[in-house]
Parts: sequence; structure tokens; C-alpha cells
Amino acid sequence: MSEIKSVEEVPEIKVPETEARETEAHETPAPDLAEAAAAILSENDRGDYTIPSEGLYPHQWLWESCFVAIGLRHLDPRRAQTELVSLVRGQWHNGMLPNMIFSSEPQYHRDRNFWRSWVSPQSPDGLATSGITQPPLLAEAVWQVGQTLQSAERRSWYKLMLPHLIEYHQWLYRERDPHGEGLVLLVHPWESGLDNTPPWTVELQDHLMPGWIRFLRTTNLDRVIALFRRDRHYIPPGQRLTTLETLSYFDAQRRLRRKAYDTMKILDHGLFSVEDLNYNCMFIRANTRLREIAKTLRYNLPPELLERMTKTETALEQLWDPYAEKYWSRDFITHRLLKQPSIAALMPLYAGCITKERAATLVKLLENEHIFGPNFPVPTVPIDSPMFDPDRYWQGPSWVNTNWMIIDGLKRYGFREHAAALTDTTLDMVRANGFWEYFHPTTGEGLGARNFSWTAALTLDLLKRK
Ligand code: GLC
Repeated sequence: MSEIKSVEEVPEIKVPETEARETEAHETPAPDLAEAAAAILSENDRGDYTIPSEGLYPHQWLWESCFVAIGLRHLDPRRAQTELVSLVRGQWHNGMLPNMIFSSEPQYHRDRNFWRSWVSPQSPDGLATSGITQPPLLAEAVWQVGQTLQSAERRSWYKLMLPHLIEYHQWLYRERDPHGEGLVLLVHPWESGLDNTPPWTVELQDHLMPGWIRFLRTTNLDRVIALFRRDRHYIPPGQRLTTLETLSYFDAQRRLRRKAYDTMKILDHGLFSVEDLNYNCMFIRANTRLREIAKTLRYNLPPELLERMTKTETALEQLWDPYAEKYWSRDFITHRLLKQPSIAALMPLYAGCITKERAATLVKLLENEHIFGPNFPVPTVPIDSPMFDPDRYWQGPSWVNTNWMIIDGLKRYGFREHAAALTDTTLDMVRANGFWEYFHPTTGEGLGARNFSWTAALTLDLLKRK
């Protein structure tokens, strides 16, 4: 046999076209998008809850599990119920739902110990959680899962979850709207779910960055600290929070822990307190779902709770800026509007309580390719903002969960074509690139963590509801 010396010498073997295609199809079967999504959810399944993604996110997150249940209900409504039941295991005695329930595996001892939820008498027994909350999506998820059940089962399901929902919403009003003004406040950017969204990072830089972190900034020592960041094992640095932001967030968390996560004590010490636009919009929607769930059960919600729910809807209008024609988040103490553009501007569509005219104004922002309308929308910061960074986490990339909420809002306001177009671009983005945590808004390239659960779950839901 003659020896082949270089690749050029390899004789070309011609395969008839049909045969070639068949072989290819056999070797790499193009998986159906729904099947691929289901495979990711089962890979990330930890028995009674789903982790967001292997490696970087090994615990259970509040709004993550809600999005997961919304997708899982199409595959296995029982498993979707389990996802939410396991979430309320973490509910605190005062009604708070924590943003994280920690895995009990020995290797996560440091995470549990960092939060030390047991410093609060309100924390659940025998379970380590964080001490702050996350977007209030539970009522939506409970309602959506209920829609896949027969009416008798649906009633039992709602009966099981209703007390948890009432306690959570009452906690939000009692502790996070202490003056009864209608809007609820957040005490940490992690509670917003949009961790490094500009209104929060700018607030932090301008007012709340502790001296030792400013010192690191002037001496550039943050670059050394960056070498020890765990997330860098998984994700390129340009796609995550900066080291200074990360340190400030951890510092803020430590201050909350010192106050045993007690809102009153936290407010007394003037730590973070922001009436976050996205959060309040999601809360308004959650209140609507809570009313629907109670109605199905013919259960009368406490009058005081109903009154406060109505007040939240009217209070949203206080966040409207007639000059900029936009909604903003607001500082809880000074009532100053935090005029840093972000995707939250579109979330009043999801809240569903604004006028049709207002909704049309927001849709214009979405149509504009220089604002919220690049090739693969919707960027989490508008393109014309100086803070826009297409690779960095919540500062520019498009996320499937925020798209899902906008699509829902568009449908409710009758913008059916817009909703269909956004559904298509979202699904195309995932189909072409995979189930990433977030995506580059102009190229569609996948960014952040791979095989991300809510991307998979909401892909399933979007496919079903197309
Ligand atoms: C990040 C996200 C947050 C999400 C969590 C787990 O912290 O900002 O929204 O819930 O990761 O996926």
C-alpha cells in the first residue's frame, strides 16, 4: 500500500448526493427544537427542582423555577407542580420567598455559610436559603400550570398554593411598602433579577460604593481580585459583571446579613432601597393572577390586600415621566426617578394596567432599530444608551425570559403581529445558536451559561403558544 504524505494526496471519494445527505442526517440528526429543550430540562433536573445551568448555578432560584414550571407544564404538569411545591419549601415564616434555596451537597457549604439565613428567626427550619427575594412570578406560574389541569385538579392545585401566595404578597406589602404608597421596594440589586441593570449599577457607583472598593478602583487592584472569581471558570469576563460591581454587591449583601435581613433595620440604616420598575410591573401582573386564582376557588381575598393591589396599579403612574415619555424606577427615600434606560421601560406592557395609548408609545420604542429593535431583540439596554454593552449580562444582551414577558404584554394589548414577529426572532435565535443564558442582540451569538433552563422552558412555551 502506498503511503499518503499529505492531505492533498488523499484521493477524493465522490458520494452520490442523496447518499451523502442521508449519511449526514444519520450522523448528526437535526434535533427538533422542542425535543432539544426537553433534553436540557431533564439534564438540569435535580429531582424536585431544576438548576439553571450545570456548574455556575447549582442551586434553586425563585423566578427560574417559575419560568421552568411554565415550560414543563407542556411536558409533564405533575413535574411542573413539584417544581413550584419545592420552591415554597423555602418560604420564610414571615412569608418571604427567598431568591435561592441552596443545594444541601457538602461542596456548597461556602455558599450556604455566606448567606447564613439562620441568623434570622424568620428563616425556614432545616433548609439553607438566601435572605432576599426575587421577581414575584409565582402567582403567574401557579396560574399557568393550573391551565393545563382538569378543573377538579386545578382547584386542588390552587387550594394548595393559595396560602403561600397570599402570605408572600402580604409580606411584600407589609415589609416592602411600609408607608402604604402602593409600590414595593427592593433592598438589593439581586432582588431585581436583572442584577447589573443600569439603574442599579449607577445608583451604586454614585452613592453607595464603600471606601475600600473606591480604593481598589483607584489603585486598579480589582484586576488582581478578578483572578480569583469563580464565574470566570465558566464565562469570559466581558460577559459578566465587572469585578467592582461584584464586590459592591457582595458588600451590600454582607450589610443586609448584619441586619439579619430585617427590612426595617435595613431601611433605618439607609442601605439600598429602590422601587424597581420591572419588579413592580411583575407584581401587578402577579396580583392579577392571584385574583384569578382566588376567583376560581370562590375565595374572598382579604379586603386590605385587595385595596393595596388596586393602589399599586395607580401608583405605577407615578413612575411615568411625561417629558421623556418613559417609565423609570424610583428611589424609595427621595422619590427621585432613576433615569437610566433599561428593558424595564417595556414591562408596563406585561403589567397590563396601562392605557392602550401608553402601550402604543412603548411599542414605538420596540419598533425603532436604534432603540429596542436590532436584529435579535429585545436588548436589555437600548442601543442608543451610553451604557449599552451587547455582551455584558443585563446591560445589552437579549434574554428569552424578558422577551417572553414582552410577547405576553404585546398580545394582551392587541399587538398580535409584533408578538408573532418577536416570537419568531426569539425562536430563530435559539434554534441557530442553542439554549444560552443570553444572546448578542445584533448577531444572535450565544453568551453566558450554556444549556440554560429558562431558555429551554420558555422556548417550549413559545412553541406551544405560537
Ligand atoms: C443570575 C440572574 C438571575 C437568575 C440567576 C440564576 O443571578 O441575574 O436573574 O435568577 O442568575 O439563573
